[in-house]
Amino acid sequence: MADQQGTTNLIEYGGGEGLLERLPKGHLIHTLVSEHVQILVLLRKIDGIRIKLLTLEVLEEDRDALDILRQFAERLLKTENHHLREEWVLFAEMEKRGIAGPSEVIRKEHELLRHLKKRLMGLSSTGLKKKSFGTITSEIDETTDRLISNLVAHIHKEDYVLYPAALQVIDDPASWASMRERCDQIGYGPFSPESASSK
Ligand SMILES: [Fe+2]
Ligand SMILES: [Fe+2]
Repeated sequence: MADQQGTTNLIEYGGGEGLLERLPKGHLIHTLVSEHVQILVLLRKIDGIRIKLLTLEVLEEDRDALDILRQFAERLLKTENHHLREEWVLFAEMEKRGIAGPSEVIRKEHELLRHLKKRLMGLSSTGLKKKSFGTITSEIDETTDRLISNLVAHIHKEDYVLYPAALQVIDDPASWASMRERCDQIGYGPFSPESASSK
């Protein structure tokens, strides 16, 4: 269980070794890192709601808190195409070049993250129909803590290890251009910068 100071210190962000500054807007890794920044902003807000819920004796003190958490969880679930662009385009391209290890690990992490996001969504939307407020807040606390720590570690690994590795092994501009087109086909989401699509 996280303490009431929160996991916020885990969410401070270094910016992926300057990838945002080094890469042009529209480069698919620039897009992925930009999305990470937005996801981390949302995680800070989710952590804030978690802390607020822990201070309430009864939900009536702040009925909106659960509703806001549900909206945040819903928004976080809209990052699915971010994961698909990574799995189907970026890490698939690395696999073609003989770097297979990370894809498997990343796919498993995406699965766990998806499960935790859905669990948070369930707890904040229908949880109270089945369980007491005290039980719900403690399950939200535990789920949020796991979600934030796993997602922050995941983002950190991608920004500082896997994306820089991809930039090294995929060294021809034509491959990056065709990968971006494949990303366009998968699509973008509410976290994506305007420069994401090549169209
Ligand atoms: Fe990922
Ligand atoms: Fe990512």
